[in-house]
Amino acid sequence: MARILIVSNRLPVTASKSEGKINFIPSVGGLATGISSFHQNHDCLWIGWSGIARDKMDKNDKKEIISQLKKLKNYPVFLSQSQIEAYYDGFCNKTIWSLFHSFTQYTIYDNILWDEYKKVNKIFCQTILDVVKPDDIIWIHDYQLMLLPKLLRQRIPNLTIGFFLHIPFPPQEIYRQLPWRREILEGILGADLIGFHTYDYVRNFLDSELRLLGDEQNMGYINYQNRMLKVDTFPMGIDYERFSMAIQNTDTQKEVEKIRKQIGGRKIILSIDRMDYTKGIVERLKAYEIFLQENPEYLEKVILIMLAVPSRTRVEQYQHLKHQIDELVGKINGKYGSIGWVPIWYLFRSLPFSELSALYHIADIGLITPLKDGMNLVAKEFIASKDNAKGVLIISEMAGAANELGEALIVNPNNKLQISWALKYALHMSEAKQIKRNKIMQKRLKNYDVKKWADDFKKSLMQVKEKQEEFSAKIFTPKKRLQIIKDYQKSKNRLFLLDYDGTLVNIEYKFKTIKPGKDVLNTIQQLIQDKKNQVVIVSGRGKEILEKWFKDIHVGLIAEHGALLRKNNGIWETTEPFKKEWKQQIKPLLQLYVDRTPGSFIEEKEYSLVWHYINTNPFFGQIRALELRDALLHLTSNFNLEVLHGGKVIEIKPMGINKGLTAYRWISQKDWDFIMAIGDDWSDEDTFATLPDAAYSIKVGAGSSQSKYNINSSTEVRAFLRELSKK
Ligand code: ADP
Ligand code: G6P
Repeated sequence: MARILIVSNRLPVTASKSEGKINFIPSVGGLATGISSFHQNHDCLWIGWSGIARDKMDKNDKKEIISQLKKLKNYPVFLSQSQIEAYYDGFCNKTIWSLFHSFTQYTIYDNILWDEYKKVNKIFCQTILDVVKPDDIIWIHDYQLMLLPKLLRQRIPNLTIGFFLHIPFPPQEIYRQLPWRREILEGILGADLIGFHTYDYVRNFLDSELRLLGDEQNMGYINYQNRMLKVDTFPMGIDYERFSMAIQNTDTQKEVEKIRKQIGGRKIILSIDRMDYTKGIVERLKAYEIFLQENPEYLEKVILIMLAVPSRTRVEQYQHLKHQIDELVGKINGKYGSIGWVPIWYLFRSLPFSELSALYHIADIGLITPLKDGMNLVAKEFIASKDNAKGVLIISEMAGAANELGEALIVNPNNKLQISWALKYALHMSEAKQIKRNKIMQKRLKNYDVKKWADDFKKSLMQVKEKQEEFSAKIFTPKKRLQIIKDYQKSKNRLFLLDYDGTLVNIEYKFKTIKPGKDVLNTIQQLIQDKKNQVVIVSGRGKEILEKWFKDIHVGLIAEHGALLRKNNGIWETTEPFKKEWKQQIKPLLQLYVDRTPGSFIEEKEYSLVWHYINTNPFFGQIRALELRDALLHLTSNFNLEVLHGGKVIEIKPMGINKGLTAYRWISQKDWDFIMAIGDDWSDEDTFATLPDAAYSIKVGAGSSQSKYNINSSTEVRAFLRELSKK
């Protein structure tokens, strides 16, 4: 089994130095707590920042840190104080964290911070290179290391790299505000598999990728620089067993008793977060105040236990938040409290597991209302800890976890009145209802726990690798090229079936302008100068345009995906008596989509209609194309028509028109001793399918195909054809 190198900014333990001694404490935050159990139970090495600045330790400290971490299967990255300030406090937490959570008002853009982010990502890269073994799987986590996948890929091209983002990926109109938006995307795309917690984040990522880099995407696969990679949803789970069994520990039981003694029979509302402005703590407190104000009968009968773990305390926004919360808690406790009762118990520190799990167990209500949260594991931990399935979770719809916790009370974190109502509703909810709802959620969380999550990610990563290998086995290597050249030289009757768009020329932005340049025409001329060669252009284009472009060149032409053909005598023939009347009925629907989709247009050919969306906004165009395809499938069911979706077009044509059938007319004409077909899309697959076994078929691009080989680009196609013609 391959070893996994987990790489994240923060290790599961954080080192600090006090009175000359190095101490380690467990790290907080969903990433560290969530992955820890997976890390412990697998052959893993976890690489990350040790927690102390390099300049604050001597040689012995460093040695001590390395050796202590080694025992925990951790490996440290050492950063200087200034790097930590500019990279971690700076770019990570003043630029990316805020922007990705859509807090644009807190986001700063500073080139110095960006430079440091790049440098630290390189330091991580070098640290990995020091320890990596050839079969290792690299699993990189989170927004602090978004350049790392590409850096590693450049150094070890075949490395297996997964990347997981634990925070939201913002909508493209927010993401594009980032001055380094391309670099960050390119950095992430160095991975083979890119994971997000929710489908919304996947969609946002793909949308930004398409608009900014414009790569071909298909069902979550991206064809990026001739490497196929995958983007998918993996909602992170928790160590379900640990939380559900926690109450069996005597330490936890003791804590429960202790809390119960102090609180008596009051109802407990529990709020747990890192102290972070994304968590909606201020809004939550205000909502609680409204609740107390509106429901005086609950005074002295409830208590809000609010746990906030100190986080990123050097960053101004976090300091400001702490002051704001201190003040608000003081104000509410002062205003509503009485002798013997404080409405809010506020703890600003980390707690050991026994205390944390006791709180989860004993709380009547979990009040978790982030303004934006990638996932939120606290909500899942609360539900898992309810061994008797009693308790009510109130969760913000802005938390990724809300997608999986539909039986909870879901609230808008900005709607304080709604939160206050939810509190009242929760306090009144019958036990039977609580149990019913919680059991459903528990089952779900148990089934997809953190182990399943990590296994699922790993399995998916290996599948992507397999797909890439299948593809690379077909890559047009110099050795294969040489074999073809030998066969070419030996042969006397050669047939070339060449697709046009995407094969002889690149598919470009302006569809209509791709007429053959000198390079294309010269390549064909050179090929046909040899009388042993017959060239046929097998295109989806109309006959007029093909005729215009290849007027004086002695080539066979197949137009409209096989509906028409021109033999060497220059006369066009229809391959079958195809019908055309249907066009009048379909055209108005296409026109409607042209009106609704700026940049799209209709191409009318003799036997087919095409809706082109290459010049539309890519994301919008794709959505419209899917809608149109569905609408057409209904409309065309009465006609004998085919609807084809490919290469930024939706094409409607009579059933039976097929490049392969028409190409076969050429194939069967003579006893060819060398046949080569080259194409780039779905329509060329029909040609490949009709070829005899000995023929050579080549697909341009990385997608899957029944071709024998894949070649990278039309530039390479032309170069190869020229090379052949010189032999
Ligand atoms: P984030 O990753 O943004 O911090 P999550 O809710 O996903 O938010 O994860 C927080 C993690 O930190 C949880 O696993 C939770 O158990 C842990 N945690 C939160 N507060 C405390 C605390 N006061 N003491 C110990 N652990 C805590
Ligand atoms: C979130 C982030 C993690 C981060 C954690 C704690 O969970 O997604 O990457 O480690 O918060 O934040 P910190 O800045 O202390 O590492």
